[in-house]
Amino acid sequence: MKKIVFISGATKGIGYKVAQQLASHNFTVLIGARNIQQGDAAVEKLRSDGADAHFIPIDVNDESSVKSAAEAITKQLGKVDVLINNAGVNYEFQLGTRPSMLSVDILKDTFGANFFGAFAIIHNFIPLLKQAGAARIINVSSTLGSLTSLSNPEHFFYGVNSLAYNSSKTAWFFSSCYAKLTIKVPS
Ligand SMILES: NC(=O)c1ccc[n+]([C@@H]2O[C@H](COP(=O)([O-])OP(=O)(O)OC[C@H]3O[C@@H](n4cnc5c(N)ncnc54)[C@H](OP(=O)(O)O)[C@@H]3O)[C@@H](O)[C@H]2O)c1
Repeated sequence: MKKIVFISGATKGIGYKVAQQLASHNFTVLIGARNIQQGDAAVEKLRSDGADAHFIPIDVNDESSVKSAAEAITKQLGKVDVLINNAGVNYEFQLGTRPSMLSVDILKDTFGANFFGAFAIIHNFIPLLKQAGAARIINVSSTLGSLTSLSNPEHFFYGVNSLAYNSSKTAWFFSSCYAKLTIKVPS
């Protein structure tokens, strides 16, 4: 049976590229996206290259949407072998925000997508992952989330102080630990 990968935020950028590459390795790819037009367009493009691709609507900020995505996959395919938590936002880069200019709303929205969203997907996809037998979870973090890199004066990113993005990505390292522990729980 073909391996199934679900990728959040997969209509463009890194997520789309990963979908293309895994499809070329015979994975069934589930394209998670909050924008229906973009989701349909990405799936159409992947299919035109021969991929077995399906669009799964999902807004990672909305747990009811995450639950619906898990239910749709349960009905259509019954398992997920690889979950890639790729969806992410970086409002500070877009706005050029310094910590002194950061609003509580931007901090909350960044954690909402980058950390709580990933957590919500893992939490709601556990039954699907257990169905796969030897599932894997990949959380796309960032060097900007690495305390080691940011503390090193020699490092390229030393002094990049995007508080919301960096700290939300550091938190993903902990969600990786959560995921590993969870998947070891027998079904
Ligand atoms: N690019 C880099 O250099 C770099 C480096 C290190 C880590 N990363 C990480 O890699 C991942 C992908 O980055 P990228 O550069 O490919 O970014 P991107 O092109 O902006 O793609 C991000 C994707 O996440 C989706 N997304 C955001 N919020 C969402 C939500 N609430 N629900 C569903 N989807 C949502 C976006 O959908 P919409 O189109 O609807 O907004 C988009 O498809 C991110 O987690 C990023 O932090 C990137």
